[in-house]
Amino acid sequence: QQGPAFDVNAMTLTRWVLAQQRTVPGATGDLTQLLNSIQTAVKAIQSAVRKAGIAKLHGISGNTNVQGEEVKKLDVLSNDLFINMLISSFTTCMLVSEENSTVIEVETERRGKYVVCFDPLDGSSNIDCLVSVGSIFAIYKKTSAGEPTESDALRPGRELVAAGYALYGSATMLVLAIGKGNGVNGFMYDPSIGEFILTDPNMRIPEKGKIYSINEGYAAEWASGLKKYIEDRKNPSSGKAYGARYVGSMVADVHRTIKYGGIFMYPATNSAPNGKLRLLYECNPMSFIVTEAGGLATNGQISILDIQPSSIHQRAPCYLGSKKDIEELMSYLQ
Ligand code: AHM
Ligand code: MG
Repeated sequence: QQGPAFDVNAMTLTRWVLAQQRTVPGATGDLTQLLNSIQTAVKAIQSAVRKAGIAKLHGISGNTNVQGEEVKKLDVLSNDLFINMLISSFTTCMLVSEENSTVIEVETERRGKYVVCFDPLDGSSNIDCLVSVGSIFAIYKKTSAGEPTESDALRPGRELVAAGYALYGSATMLVLAIGKGNGVNGFMYDPSIGEFILTDPNMRIPEKGKIYSINEGYAAEWASGLKKYIEDRKNPSSGKAYGARYVGSMVADVHRTIKYGGIFMYPATNSAPNGKLRLLYECNPMSFIVTEAGGLATNGQISILDIQPSSIHQRAPCYLGSKKDIEELMSYLQ
């Protein structure tokens, strides 16, 4: 007899999060509610990224829809979705978005205890040419008393309650790390039922990889240690050279690094001494996930997760990936 053609007992993301919540005594279900709201935003974003419904929107051509209104840019739409879903979840008090210069304070009536920092659609240079993009989010619990203030978001990555990303690639995947020491789980989106299904339980990054990922166009501006490190990956004293892969979307480059192993770098350069990537909603959540998957993340000096942020949009050099690869890199950077 053949096995069932249809999984009638699938582990969906919603079900998995709920089951997690049940293992925590006294849990209120707020984090579950919050993650559900992010899940809804991600579903809508993936639909928009994949241009579902475009036939209705576009007339014959152009960026104007059939009603003559300008079609909302994907990054703006993604930001609006994140903000609306998070605020209406009644679980957040303050939001930090890459798209908003100041923090977003949630009105008193809809406040909850979580602070969420997010990049609603990362990889802006890849949006219009249909290369993979992603969403990134980082969740803190407000620990201070009184009104929420910016300092509630200026916390080291170590204090994260949860972090995750969604990759809008050849398929859509949501990767989630809740709490310290609980590992990383990946959920693939099944458009036929509109649910994320647990396909990658307990993701572990290989101890060492064979791929380096960096924008080599800026090599002239790198520190000498980094130059030497990359040179040696290309001309190893023994064994095969590393492969080079750089999508230019952090989510895609980091997801590949977790799946296949290796190293992803956005270093300091002479003209950008803090690199490009933002600490609160790019470096921190991705470092938290990579670390939970058994890898390492550093700014070249200390663990990314130990940096005390001083402003919401601050940048940090970011090197993350397989444990052995990061350790090897560190020996060049010293
Ligand atoms: P963005 O927030 O404007 O999209 O920039 C962040 C992106 C990352 O996804 C990616 O790792 C990096 O920028 C690529 O930058 P570069 O083109 O300088 O290599
Ligand atoms: Mg970004």
